[in-house]
Amino acid sequence: MAITKQHFDLIFTFSLLFFSHLHCSTTSAQAPSPAPPGPPDVIKIIGKAAQYTIFIRLLRSTEISDRLIGELNDTANGKTIFAPTDKAFSNLKSGALNSLNDEQRVELVLYHVVPIYIPLNQFQTVSNPMRTQAGDSGDGQFPLNVTTAGNTATLTTGLTTTRVAGTIYTDGQLAIYRVDQVLQPLQIFASRSSGPAPAPGKSRKAADVAENSKACLALLNFALFAFSVMVFALSL
Ligand SMILES: *[C@@H]1O[C@H](CO)[C@@H](O)[C@H](O)[C@H]1NC(C)=O
Ligand SMILES: *[C@@H]1O[C@H](CO)[C@@H](O)[C@H](O)[C@H]1NC(C)=O
Repeated sequence: MAITKQHFDLIFTFSLLFFSHLHCSTTSAQAPSPAPPGPPDVIKIIGKAAQYTIFIRLLRSTEISDRLIGELNDTANGKTIFAPTDKAFSNLKSGALNSLNDEQRVELVLYHVVPIYIPLNQFQTVSNPMRTQAGDSGDGQFPLNVTTAGNTATLTTGLTTTRVAGTIYTDGQLAIYRVDQVLQPLQIFASRSSGPAPAPGKSRKAADVAENSKACLALLNFALFAFSVMVFALSL
């Protein structure tokens, strides 16, 4: 049987249909850009000051900025974000940031996000270790402690000690504070200087991405298989 124009049309339509459904996206929690007065946009807020360019770049490249917009759209969710200045990043050991893999970058950014709203005068009520969005606050993982003395709140990771240096934004749901050091989680930075990097733990985001691409790959394989079966059948 020869392949007629009709067959070609059929194949073409079939594959178009299939591939248009194959939306292999790695962004599992991407939210549309907000229409005011929508949820607060962290990038816009900290972008007003000139000194957070590296943190903004990380928020974008890890897609955590989009995820935060989605999560903050549900006003039942509170957040506290510790935003390190560019100078804070420049205090890191040289090459420290570049040596992180994608998953560790996600974890590093999520470590600066606490899933509750903490007003500046409420840090003394927090129980240690605080749980950040990086996950496990267990020993050697992602614990973050806060101690207060007078009006000063001090954050300790086990590697970094720095105070909450200023309030960038607060609205009763979201608080963004300036920190002058990057909060270095033990899980990522503890064994940097001695021996190989620790086996990275699965962050929720990275796990999502892995699941997503696995499903996409399976679908893609199936589509290609179906497509070749069809071409073969029509060429008989
Ligand atoms: C916020 O939530 C509402 C209602 O669930 C939804 O219609 C809207 O698209 C969301 N906006 C963003 C920016 O996620
Ligand atoms: C954090 O606080 C917990 C509970 O008080 C304590 O066991 C742990 O040693 C503290 N870690 C650091 C790095 O301060």
